[in-house]
Amino acid sequence: MTAESAATIGPARKRDVQLATWRRAVQVMPGGTDSNFRAWGEATIYVDRGKGGTVWDLDGNEYIDLRMGYGPVILGHADDRVDDYVNERMRQGVSFSLTSEDEIRANELVQELTGWVEMSRLTVSGTEATMHAMRVARAFTGRDKIVKFEGQYHGVHDYALISVLPNNIADLGDAENPSRLAWGRGIPAAVADTVIPARYNNVDQLRRLFEREGHDIAAIIVEPVLGNAQGIMPQPGFHEAMRALTREFGILLIFDEVKTGFRLAKGGAAEYFGITPDLGTFAKAMGNGYPAAAFGGRRDIMSLMPASVSHGGTYAGNRIAAAAAVRTLEILRDTDAIATIHRTGEAVQAGIRSVLDPTGLPYVITGHPSMFGIMFTDRVPREYRDWATTDHELYDAIAVGMQARGAMPEPDSREPWFMCEAHARGDTVDRIVSIFAASVSAALEARSRGH
Ligand SMILES: Cc1ncc(COP(=O)(O)O)c(C=O)c1O
Repeated sequence: MTAESAATIGPARKRDVQLATWRRAVQVMPGGTDSNFRAWGEATIYVDRGKGGTVWDLDGNEYIDLRMGYGPVILGHADDRVDDYVNERMRQGVSFSLTSEDEIRANELVQELTGWVEMSRLTVSGTEATMHAMRVARAFTGRDKIVKFEGQYHGVHDYALISVLPNNIADLGDAENPSRLAWGRGIPAAVADTVIPARYNNVDQLRRLFEREGHDIAAIIVEPVLGNAQGIMPQPGFHEAMRALTREFGILLIFDEVKTGFRLAKGGAAEYFGITPDLGTFAKAMGNGYPAAAFGGRRDIMSLMPASVSHGGTYAGNRIAAAAAVRTLEILRDTDAIATIHRTGEAVQAGIRSVLDPTGLPYVITGHPSMFGIMFTDRVPREYRDWATTDHELYDAIAVGMQARGAMPEPDSREPWFMCEAHARGDTVDRIVSIFAASVSAALEARSRGH
């Protein structure tokens, strides 16, 4: 598909097969999918296949993928280097509940690439990783409470689903003492009460919180960049101040590197920002889309397992995930894939600026070149609450228009665009920019017509 054809396909893509599939799927799956996050009603996309930076849906529509599975597919879909190794290893059997060489190798690579993780354990999802990191932090400190930042997402266990994604910012409550906002029903109040929401990039509020309740707080868990709000970056000095504060109050610092790990740098956000956390959680880019995840950190904390802290899992360290992690991490270590991704992201960002600057629209490109967003605002956003003051309706209209024209960012102004190594190939960058330009024009035109 050329840039011209992509830009002129327009909003009418084929939907017949997917609509029929959706009608079938909603009979057996709530929302017609396995995750609330991809339940888009009749617009739900059913995927056929992917290769590199491209995906095709069941109607044969082709898209440049800017979601990359919410981040994990760092090299590209169906990467032969990873898949060949996984295939070779899986033929030896996949699940023994015995420990394989691949598992040890994967954990060694986590240690080698991060440089600060002394011991780790594999899990199958980021959700499990954050749940276990929180538990081991509580065990180590003998304290029950965990601080998390508003708008940050740490997975779908009960301790993580607090103050994550309200559309109505007023629900977050008072700025000094934010409300504890459970996402959805079914989260026991007793569990929610152990989680304290705080405000990203607000060190003063954190200090006041620690002074008031520090003796009960085991850990603070942080997405080093606010991945759930277009990758809002830390203000200069924020991480350093948080590191100092946590040390002062004997509180553990958990870097949730599920999105940033092995992406912002080989050693993730900890390397990128020059911070040494106490614990970290990893997933996504670690396995190029296979369900590989890990939690780890200081030896003295992790050594509470196996004797005093529960961690297990039938599929923890399963051959497929462990082999995928080994090969993916080796590639990220031994090639310039991460640098390539960063350069590609910078080129896309430059293209976005060349489209938006002449429009006179106020906008900010948030995040890091490998995972970034566009916020229509004249203020640099610092925290989740700032998302509400951006023109997210315009963003959503552009994202929906891009999808219709053959490039697929998430149609939600909170989710960043994810770059993969394969996006560097061919004319992908030019096509992304051309589709973006056509979608901006169409959205602005629709707005001027009052739609
Ligand atoms: C920062 C962060 N932590 C944890 C998770 C949960 O990971 P998973 O979806 O593998 O359970 C996610 C998922 O998007 C995430 O972005």
